[in-house]
Amino acid sequence: MNPSLCKLIDLPKILDHRGNLTFVEATKHIPFEIKRIYYLYDVPGGASRGGHAHRNLQQFVIAANGSFDVITKDGTNKKKFFLNRSYYGLYIPTMIWREMDNFSSGSVCLVLASEFYDEEDYIRDYREFKKLAVGNKDDGQD
Ligand code: TYD
Repeated sequence: MNPSLCKLIDLPKILDHRGNLTFVEATKHIPFEIKRIYYLYDVPGGASRGGHAHRNLQQFVIAANGSFDVITKDGTNKKKFFLNRSYYGLYIPTMIWREMDNFSSGSVCLVLASEFYDEEDYIRDYREFKKLAVGNKDDGQD
């Protein structure tokens, strides 16, 4: 799985002088059914989240407020995305290592997920992830 398969997706934006509105429809704007929603908030300065991959889970990540970086890796390639608007998000397919950092003060990271929470679906060890993703060869990327 190449991190270039992670992609930024623009969402509908209904401009209104009372305040703008954006919506997400499962399978229409994002390529999966939504089974779970979670969000990160009150992230202290300098903290980083993620640091794992998922065997089966697909996710769509939105900066509902503020901004942060999402670093994605497939074991060989690495790509960084900066999220800072609530009218687009980052689609992350299965078997992509992700780390999130550089959270701005007051930021909210909203995640739409294709599966219920399942600890068994996580790969939390990067070496194990690399083995599964690209075999045993080690190109030195960390
Ligand atoms: P984790 O996915 O490791 O957080 P992040 O990737 O954002 O750094 O989850 C942190 C903890 O929260 C872990 O103990 C599992 C728990 N958790 C749930 O119980 N349900 C969920 O939907 C999520 C995302 C996490």
